[in-house]
Amino acid sequence: MLKGRHLIDPMDFTKDEIQEIFDLAKEIMEAPEKYHRLCEGKLLAALFYEPSTRTRFSFEAAMLRLGGRVIGFSEPNSSSVSKGESIADTIRTIGCYADIAVMRHPKEGAPRVASMHSEIPVINAGDGGHQHPTQTLTDLLTILMAKGSLSNHRIGLCGDLKFGRTVHSLVKALSRYPNNKFILISPKELRAPDYVIKESLEKNNIEYLEVEEIENVIEELDILYMTRVQKERFFNEEDYIRLKDRFILDGNKLRNSKKDIIVLHPLPRVNEIAYEIDKDPRAYYFKQAKYGMYARMALIAKLLGVA
Ligand code: NCD
Repeated sequence: MLKGRHLIDPMDFTKDEIQEIFDLAKEIMEAPEKYHRLCEGKLLAALFYEPSTRTRFSFEAAMLRLGGRVIGFSEPNSSSVSKGESIADTIRTIGCYADIAVMRHPKEGAPRVASMHSEIPVINAGDGGHQHPTQTLTDLLTILMAKGSLSNHRIGLCGDLKFGRTVHSLVKALSRYPNNKFILISPKELRAPDYVIKESLEKNNIEYLEVEEIENVIEELDILYMTRVQKERFFNEEDYIRLKDRFILDGNKLRNSKKDIIVLHPLPRVNEIAYEIDKDPRAYYFKQAKYGMYARMALIAKLLGVA
């Protein structure tokens, strides 16, 4: 039963519950007109303490396409946060007005704190460099639609694996499906955190490899998940400038890949995928953005208990 639950960490839901969300997402994709009024009379609060394009707009679009309405802020200084209000008080208040809340916050754990004080479902839309479970629903649904299964894949994750929260959540989620192998491609400075490697991979005896170059491994990949170097989480600009263009996927690098590889990216892209790749049928990142909206429509409907 997903009604009334929070989504803070990708492991909050069982595999069956995730499948339930995907089944509904697929039904909505096939016949969206049937769902136009599903959330009529319901209100979603979007609390964005950090910049966002896709996540906020896809949540808003999702709720509006279900016939619900949206309130919120994308600029925390325009709310009482700037007066020093605590997260606990903010969410308690929001719970008096809205039926469901989506929160993005620069501090790791902030949405968890909110959920502990909330009467309404809270969805983590990204907490600092930690987790991003709805991007993971997006990524899993995309893989499922493209490949038909979430198992038996060779998955390359490339770029900023240290600060990239989408990677942390995706590895965690995919570690539950059998026979996946992870190839972690990053400079040493941006390696995946130890907790991801130990708790998600080693503890579950999952095969993985850490490499610094994409060229040496591209041939074996079924999925390549590119990420941006997370500028806002760097302490000094020099390091960012040194690392930001370390990996650029272009036609030349993709030449040696499998014919049916899919290239994913949570977006926004900065330089890490050359524009020439966009027209390649293996480029899946804009489709991925679209699947994200359907995944969020299904999630909202399930947490509100209307489907
Ligand atoms: C990601 C995020 O915010 O972590 N973006 C998104 O939600 N689609 C990735 C990023 O910002 O690089």
